[in-house]
Amino acid sequence: PEVYLKVYQEIDSTNRAAKEAAVTGLAGHGGCVVAGKQTAGRGRRGRSFYSPEEAGLYLSVILKPRGSLKESLLLTAEAAVAVYKAVLRITGISLGIKWVNDLYYNEKKVCGILTEAVTDFESGDIDFAVVGIGLNLYEAEGGYPSEIRNVAGALYENREAAAGLDRNRLAAEIINALLEETRELRLPPEYIQQNLVPGREIQIVDGQDIRKAKALEICPDGRLKVQESDGSLSILAYGEVSLII
Ligand code: BTN
Repeated sequence: PEVYLKVYQEIDSTNRAAKEAAVTGLAGHGGCVVAGKQTAGRGRRGRSFYSPEEAGLYLSVILKPRGSLKESLLLTAEAAVAVYKAVLRITGISLGIKWVNDLYYNEKKVCGILTEAVTDFESGDIDFAVVGIGLNLYEAEGGYPSEIRNVAGALYENREAAAGLDRNRLAAEIINALLEETRELRLPPEYIQQNLVPGREIQIVDGQDIRKAKALEICPDGRLKVQESDGSLSILAYGEVSLII
């Protein structure tokens, strides 16, 4: 398909729109949807993603994945590194990565990534992955909703502090970095270098099960090796991990 880049002032969810464009054949690899505000931003695990006007960057990129869905962990790790690199280049801010794909600044989550698969209706094969990135630039007026107040942060303290930032350049840099980083499927070295999790006491939320463990290291396939409280080792491929301070 032709180059596909849609920019909306307001939309329900850029991931939803990007998936639709991919399913209907309007957009292919590299297609992008960017919005100034989302009214139904999606987060991981069925949560919503708070997406107020102007205070954040909300974008989705369609990628033709190499390899199987099993490797989506690597794709997601590459997306986190793309955001890390783009933010460093444009703002000089060095973000930390929290396994799997949250980015942190000053102990607060400033960016979340949601990777969704677009499957072929008949064969059930995965045609595309849609990588959605939500990056908080500053705290919107009225503050964060109470559910996320303890964890949410932003690159800049307020709107005035963010005034010198060229949002379009940052968006373009993220998209380019994402396309560059995902050219081959591998664990980027920066994913390990910038990771906040290895060596830390963590809490694992896996469905109903909540337990404590110690994070050891990130494996070459992106999974996380942990030591359970009974001393046994296990390897996590998904699940929510929070750092215990
Ligand atoms: C998470 O932290 O749970 C993932 C959040 C992902 C949010 C982004 S914002 C752009 C894109 N469109 C969506 O609806 N969600 C992603």
